[in-house]
Amino acid sequence: MEPVYTFTDTERDALRELLRGVTKNPYEDHSAFSAAIADLADSGDVPGYFVDLCRRIRDERAAGGTQAHVLRNCPLDEDIPLLDLDDPIADKHAKKHTFIGEAFLALFGRLVETPLLSYGTRFNGAFFVDVIAINKYSGMQTGFSDSELVYHNDRTAHPVRADFICLLGMRCPDGADYIYTGFVDGRDLLAHLTEEQQAVLRKPYFITPYDVFSRDNNGALSVSEDHAILENEHSFRYLDTTTTVTETAPPEAKDALLALKNALVRANKTRHRIQTGDLFTFANQDGLHSRDKMEINDPERARQRWLLKTYAFRDQAAADRYADRWIDGVPGRVGDGT
Ligand SMILES: [Fe+2]
Repeated sequence: MEPVYTFTDTERDALRELLRGVTKNPYEDHSAFSAAIADLADSGDVPGYFVDLCRRIRDERAAGGTQAHVLRNCPLDEDIPLLDLDDPIADKHAKKHTFIGEAFLALFGRLVETPLLSYGTRFNGAFFVDVIAINKYSGMQTGFSDSELVYHNDRTAHPVRADFICLLGMRCPDGADYIYTGFVDGRDLLAHLTEEQQAVLRKPYFITPYDVFSRDNNGALSVSEDHAILENEHSFRYLDTTTTVTETAPPEAKDALLALKNALVRANKTRHRIQTGDLFTFANQDGLHSRDKMEINDPERARQRWLLKTYAFRDQAAADRYADRWIDGVPGRVGDGT
């Protein structure tokens, strides 16, 4: 996938200088951090090249253009520590004392007008999440492992799901290790499904068990409510090899599920190799994504791959629909309850 925009080194450094002015700690006081980002966005100090770029992405998404964008050579923290993979999150808090990556993601979210979303039961409700291999999840189907991941959306089983995901490459293997993020647009899946199959996929004949990481963080979670796979125009709520039919679903539900699996094999896809300093942002519901390890020559180096992730709502109205779920009065932070 071709980058939408590559910051020049001068542009990147100017943005980093600007973001350095945000001194609040997003993990200790998200409200203060968030207010500082809002002030920055409104200050008139954000360079025009970034404001215009964010506006272009917002307009292209709204107009039904591509739902996946790449920004290259983004500003990052000057010191990016190597993390202990037994407990990388605690190690991050111990070692990382600047928040340039976080501020960049927050400012991007603000300028494309996609309010951020977090889960109260994960990472203390942090809005900036580390996609990194945690040793205890090795080999499992969760973003917190070094495994390949089948096509899915994040938090498939959860009633509140992000419309967009941002992944910022903090430390990516840049040698001979090739890890790709695949993306398939929901419209390209629809093109391979008949009207009848689509109609069945729109019925609540399906369930998705929660992933291992969710169950570890909230023991009460086991399986989603019965849900449709196809929602809105072309949103897919689906975790390949896991989403299945309910016990009471009619036979055509299984046929439609099989048709979706075939569509997923046939549909056009884009694949992007996230490199250090890349921001890859794509639709979480109006498409599905995957992680493919195409070629790994140094598994230990590849295991140190670290992406900083945010979840976001499509717009303010989409966020406001969940306002009764906010935890501790923090807009965007939801619980696991239904
Ligand atoms: Fe994912």
